[in-house]
Parts: sequence; C-alpha cells; structure tokens
Amino acid sequence: EKAGFDHFMLKEIYEQPKAYRDTMLGRIADDGKSVHLKELSMTDDYIRSIRKIHIVACGTAYHAGLVGKSVIETLARIPVENDVASEYRYRSPIITPDTLVIVVSQSGETADTLAALREAQKNGARVLAITNVVGSSVAREANDVITTWAGPEIAVASTKAYTSQLIAFYLLGLHLARVAGTQEQAAVEEIIAGLHALPEQVESILEQALLLKQVAESMAHHKSLFFIGRGVDYAVAQEGSLKLKEISYIHSEAYAAGELKHGTLALIEDGVPVIALVTQELLYEKTLSNIKEVKARGAHVLAVANSGFEDEVAKSVDEVFSIPKTLPILSPALAVVPLQLLSYYASLALGHDVDKPRNLAKSVTVE
Ligand code: F6R
Repeated sequence: EKAGFDHFMLKEIYEQPKAYRDTMLGRIADDGKSVHLKELSMTDDYIRSIRKIHIVACGTAYHAGLVGKSVIETLARIPVENDVASEYRYRSPIITPDTLVIVVSQSGETADTLAALREAQKNGARVLAITNVVGSSVAREANDVITTWAGPEIAVASTKAYTSQLIAFYLLGLHLARVAGTQEQAAVEEIIAGLHALPEQVESILEQALLLKQVAESMAHHKSLFFIGRGVDYAVAQEGSLKLKEISYIHSEAYAAGELKHGTLALIEDGVPVIALVTQELLYEKTLSNIKEVKARGAHVLAVANSGFEDEVAKSVDEVFSIPKTLPILSPALAVVPLQLLSYYASLALGHDVDKPRNLAKSVTVE
C-alpha cells in the first residue's frame, strides 16, 4: 500500500503533482480564463458584502491559512486575519454577519477547529470549510465546502494536504476576485497559467530529492536551526520548521528575516544551520542582507531560491536549492517541497519513526 515507497510520508510527497491537478480539476474554465467554484452556495451579492475574513485552523492547516491571507488580500482586496483555532473563541473575536470565517482542516475532525466553526455561526457569520475529508464533521456543519482532492493522508506529518490547501486558496482567491472585479483579466490568466504549470514544476523538484538528502544528513547532528524568509516565504518557513520538529525532533524556529536582529541573532554562532527562503522578487535584496547578517556570525546557510536570482544568492550562501520560476504568489506551492524532503531525510538519518512521530496523533479530536 506504500506503492514501493519506504514510508507513507515520502509517497504522499510524491503524490503532490496529482493532488494539485485533482484539486484544480473542473474548477478552472477550459479556456484558462476564469475560476468558478460551482460547489459554493454563497451568492455574488453575499461575496460583495464580505467586509473581512477570519481564517482559523491548527498546525499545518494554520500555516496554509497564512498563505491564504496573502492570496486573498492580494487578489480580492478583502482584509484577512489568521487565528490558531485553540485561541480563537477565547479572545472574543469580533465576528459580524459581514465576516466570512474560513476554517481549514485536513481531517475535518479537529476539535478546536470545529469549535471555532460553531462559534462563528453562533455569531451570525457564514463558514467556508477547506477540508480533505468529504462528510467529516467540519464539512457537514460548514455553510460551504471546498474539498481538497489530496486523497487519504496516512503519515502524521501533513504534506500533500497542506499543498492542496494552498491550491484551494488560489482558486478561492481567483473566484472572489472575479466576483469583486478586483483583478485585470490578463493578471488572472497569468495566475491560471502559473497554476497549470505547478504540477510539472513539483515533479522537477522531486527529481532533485537526493541533493536534499545530503544536506539533511549534515543538518541532522545539529541541536537547533533556523528558517528565515519574508512575506509568504515567512509563512513557508513556519511550515518548514514545524515539519522538521515534528518528525526529526530537531529544534528549529522560523523567523521573519528582518526580525532576527531584534534578539534572535544572538543565537547565531559558528556552524548553526540557517535555511533561507528567497523566492520573492520584491523582497529579495532585503532577505539577502539578512542572510549576510547570519553569515557574518558564522551560520551555514542553505537558500531555497527562485531560479532567476539563484546565481546572485549563491554568492552569499553555502548552498542553494533552486526552485522553478513561478509567480511570487504561487511560490509557496513549490518552496515547501524541498523543506518537506529535508525533514523526511533528517528523520530518516536519525532513525526515527517517520510516519508515526512520538507524542502525536493524526487527528486531534480533544481540546
Ligand atoms: C502537522 C500536522 C498538524 C495538523 C493539525 C491540524 O504536520 O499534521 O499540525 O495540520 O493537527 O489537523 P487538521 O488539518 O486535520 O485539522
């Protein structure tokens, strides 16, 4: 049932191109000009009345929501707040009838996420669920559902469910933008073309997996490491850090690259591994100067860079893993893949149970 792979996690990482295609299927017009989420019951008038969006989820699904915020704000110009589900209802969030609450859950059974959904509905908001399990509790109770078609995810560490959630957010962003009239047609078509290219681009990253195995093996004997990035790269950094902790038990932290010098830089000393995400053209010079700050303190830097500026980045770092060129907004769907592989190979090198890490359950149905 692992289809020749040693672990479910690796199998699921390799299933991502299919998961992307399946999640897009039937939702993008054949002429590549528009996105229609026909499964949504919300009317165009309702969409135009939305004044703010709350995205609520746990763990990896929360990290997908961080990218979702950027996608929705960029494409549809609706303000978005992100919340961890275990915090949401205890902070008395301001939920009004013109708030759309989006819950994200692979399993659709996470207790805190389900409680957040109920809290939102109690306050008169509509809830849109992004979930991978048809008929799950979250799917049944939400007003609308976008199903991610990642297929069953067995490994505790989420991979293909996360990236399929990103695809769902891209589609939702384009759907909202069409109704709200916030994007030029040419821009929409460019994003759609970019989406169609992603599955093959992921395949080309997977072909280079063994490069990451080597890096992971040299990382595995370190006690602690850092992930840095700006904008959506910071969101991806947070997911990369969680994945690594979860299955390799190596301590790591993710930092907004510009925030390091406000304290954390004190922890950078000779040999500390730093994984820097450099995929955003507008922020690239800024991130590069943060990379120089850690290099000057002796860090060993692996950059995950968009091809286009990999040569420039290579001059300032120890290693570069380059990802295919895509639009800035779409890069998380590529940049996370090398981080998934790094975690996998680090866990493997340390002899841990990759698919069933200690202390963790696949679905958290208690608060
Ligand atoms: C990490 C991981 C968890 C889940 C979280 C939410 O790899 O899998 O952080 O993302 O427990 O689970 P769902 O998405 O089922 O609500």
